[in-house]
Amino acid sequence: MKFSNSLFMHPRVDNKLPKRKTLEREYSGYTSYIEDVYKYGQSHVFAWWNEITPSEKKSLLDQISSINFLLIKKLFNDAVLKTTQARQGILIPPQVIAVPKHDTEKEIAERVKHIGENSLRKGEVAILTVAGGDGTRLGISGPKGTFPIAPISKKSIFQLHAEKIIAVQKRYNTRIPWYIMTSKNNDSSTQKFFKSHKFFGLDSQQVYFFTQGMLPVVDLNGNLLMDSKSNIIMSPNGHGGVLVALKEKGILNDMKNCGIKNIFFHQIDNVLIKIADPIFIGYHLKDEAEISLKVVKKCHPEEKVGIVVYSDGHLHMVEYSELSRKDMYANSEDGTLKYNAGNIAVHMINIGFLEKVYQMGESLPYHAAMKKVTCLGEDGGKIDPKENNAIKFESFIFDILKYVKKNVIMEVLREDEFSPLKNMEGENSPASSRQDMINLFGRWLQNSGVPIPTDSHGNVMGLIEISPCFALDQEELRNKVDRHLQFHGNLSL
Ligand code: UTP
Repeated sequence: MKFSNSLFMHPRVDNKLPKRKTLEREYSGYTSYIEDVYKYGQSHVFAWWNEITPSEKKSLLDQISSINFLLIKKLFNDAVLKTTQARQGILIPPQVIAVPKHDTEKEIAERVKHIGENSLRKGEVAILTVAGGDGTRLGISGPKGTFPIAPISKKSIFQLHAEKIIAVQKRYNTRIPWYIMTSKNNDSSTQKFFKSHKFFGLDSQQVYFFTQGMLPVVDLNGNLLMDSKSNIIMSPNGHGGVLVALKEKGILNDMKNCGIKNIFFHQIDNVLIKIADPIFIGYHLKDEAEISLKVVKKCHPEEKVGIVVYSDGHLHMVEYSELSRKDMYANSEDGTLKYNAGNIAVHMINIGFLEKVYQMGESLPYHAAMKKVTCLGEDGGKIDPKENNAIKFESFIFDILKYVKKNVIMEVLREDEFSPLKNMEGENSPASSRQDMINLFGRWLQNSGVPIPTDSHGNVMGLIEISPCFALDQEELRNKVDRHLQFHGNLSL
């Protein structure tokens, strides 16, 4: 990580600070926390103490009492020392179940599908959606899941996922609990959205919200940043925070008590997600895997996607920035990219395995990321930075891979299963996600005998939307659609 001097020095506030002894006397319940603030050089958080109201004072002190100052200092120091370098040691590509091409491969997948379907029928699978991220790159005011993404109906991402769950339930005559991880920043708006949309037809009792942990955001000198005179900026502690939250909030026990054996994990923003894919579940169960992963082939050697490899005898997700140029371009004997298993963050996770990890007492490491964060300047005015001015600390779920002994890695087609909504414009934007959905529906229709015109890039010319409640996949569509249907540029089923 490269550091320059902080663009925004923390306020030179010494003369404005309240006397530490006075503070400690007046708020004796918070003495040890106030001590920490001074001990770790963060007293500027009191810069506006004399201007804020008593309830704001209390809220600031409560916030301070939730912060592990020692941890933040350590994470900042680690970030300063860290230089991005290529992962050392030999990387070995993992075994991947390829997308079935021939009839025999398709027959195997069909047989494996029955295993997954049985487990779904028995109610052994829960859905876990991580939706706690701030979605800063997309930049909308509400949670990312509320974004109206469907090409014609403009249904939200949450609604699309909910309807897929309803369709799977109907197909297998089962009930699938849905666990949604939010953060303090978006929990109440997420829950409100579900309530105001009547849980999109799901039983409200089967949807469980839980919040992840938060960590303060620091500037490039390690100083806590504030966005108001009484509020320290906190951000969610990464999707890896789900591991601690599942345990601390008693969710894992709840799941076990309901007979859940495995979790289908996915990220909120993949609009093509095949929720509770029975083939994936089937492979995971057949091989008694602790964790299973779906991967896609990289588009090109320099694509910024993490790849799954073995290194030092363990499974790892190696980030794009950690791959040496030689490894990035390395080819296998058949001329294809050697390190080509791009992680799309769709997993099956065995509950017993998670318990084993908890018993080991291990925790996931934190990674530091430079970000542009709007904050208060030393004069108390808002600063909208043009360059990175802040560091956020996050743990990543894929760091759990190094504890995995038995896994399944299954390749899927990107165009069928992976289109994440990250940015407002360009790559991974609403426009590209909608086009990916339209193209998928177009292929389903075409393969069902309905001609669909495409342009020279293979994009469908027009709008198509197929509700998960009408058809969850191509097979179902083929059985339902009228082959004589004519596409006139706008079709909603
Ligand atoms: P991203 O890393 O893409 O983050 O998260 P994001 O919040 O969606 O977007 P940016 O980086 O701020 O622009 C991938 C997935 O992990 C979840 C997100 O909600 C998304 O589903 N996530 C991320 C969490 O649940 N918690 C976090 O702390 C971070």
